Amino acid sequence: MRIFEEMSRFDLIRKKSHWQVSGLGVVQSEVDYDPALLRTVLDKARRIKDEMSRKEHLNLRFIREAHVVIPEILELVHYPGRLDRLSRQAGTELEPYPVSVISATITFMGADPDDGTAAWHADGVPVTEIVPLIMDDVVGGELQIYRGDYEAGFVLLDEQGTLPERDVITVPHRMGASTLAQLMRVLHRTAPIERGYRVSLNMNLRARDRPYIDDNPLYYLAADNPDFKWIDQYVSDVRSRQVPAYLASQRYEKA
Ligand SMILES: [Fe+2]
Repeated sequence: MRIFEEMSRFDLIRKKSHWQVSGLGVVQSEVDYDPALLRTVLDKARRIKDEMSRKEHLNLRFIREAHVVIPEILELVHYPGRLDRLSRQAGTELEPYPVSVISATITFMGADPDDGTAAWHADGVPVTEIVPLIMDDVVGGELQIYRGDYEAGFVLLDEQGTLPERDVITVPHRMGASTLAQLMRVLHRTAPIERGYRVSLNMNLRARDRPYIDDNPLYYLAADNPDFKWIDQYVSDVRSRQVPAYLASQRYEKA
């Protein structure tokens, strides 16, 4: 399988990191997802865009809980060999992100001036796989990553409104390839789209044995999903998975 980009977390942020699922930074590789299935997802996403997508913060228009309104996405989430491949690329066993509102999303960038492109931010989810569904005559819209500490990057943005170009890595998206990235506590954005448009499917993941390694506090999820309908699912996950795994990790360290 062809690899187009491969960078470790250390390559991205130029320092060791404790809050990480593994040393994964970004891996962009060829994928074998069924083109007809991807096309179905795209067609459905376009049909429901006006009704189902919203832009709440970060200047990003997307469909939440995309796998609920487009069930074919579940076939991709559970695509034969997918989790094994992603886990191998990440260097740790991954599982689909469980909080439904953010486990799979569809983002729209560039077709409409109101679509936006994601402003500088760090992800709430630990790991994401981005699969472009269509890239029509796109200029811009690449993944851009600040090569440094995300707090320091935010300070620069606060003080100067911009980041030094020499400290920004640009990763273009490619049709037929997916980008697996650990962008939790990594400052990144989508470069402004100058021409054309892109629609992407984002399938989020986390570490199976350390589900508490996550950066999605309630306010961050609620900024995108203010109805709080997801709260019981979130709390139940904290209770049944995150706390037991966290406590087990603490006991292990004491032993
Ligand atoms: Fe992001």
